[in-house]
Amino acid sequence: MYDYYFPIKHLHVTAVTLSIILFVVRAYWSVTESALLQLRWVRILPHIVDSVLLVCGVILAAMIGPNQPWILTKIVLLIAYIGVGTIAIKRGKTPHKRGQAALIAIAIFAYIVGVALTKDSASWFSML
Ligand code: HEM
Repeated sequence: MYDYYFPIKHLHVTAVTLSIILFVVRAYWSVTESALLQLRWVRILPHIVDSVLLVCGVILAAMIGPNQPWILTKIVLLIAYIGVGTIAIKRGKTPHKRGQAALIAIAIFAYIVGVALTKDSASWFSML
């Protein structure tokens, strides 16, 4: 195993935790139409955290080798999480639509965590 595997994995999981916290807070402010959403750090920090999450994930994936179907599943679902997430935070026209998108994004996130822990594309369902 590479020397840096565990520190990078730790950084990845830390970024994962920060990412969902920042997302839930921003989605709440988006649904309630709060002006706090426009704060400079609120607009910038999530991009930094999500970049760290993705870069660390890609480095870990490169270290353990490419042919892991569950890693591809994570990448595809990360793109879905980001896409649905932008509807929740800004692209959704009404608070109701943004709230629905936020719930879907959180469900996708929970599915990805299941994929990470089970190392199976079926996520939590692989435990049934
Ligand atoms: C929202 C997106 C993501 C979430 C929620 C997430 C979550 C997690 C979690 C919780 C772990 C720790 C698993 C454990 O302790 O056994 C982990 C590990 C890992 N993640 Fe992610 N991840 C995400 C995105 C990605 C992406 C995009 C990639 C690849 C490009 C990736 C690759 C990996 C790898 C290779 C590991 C290490 C597996 C291990 O050694 O146990 N992750 N991820």
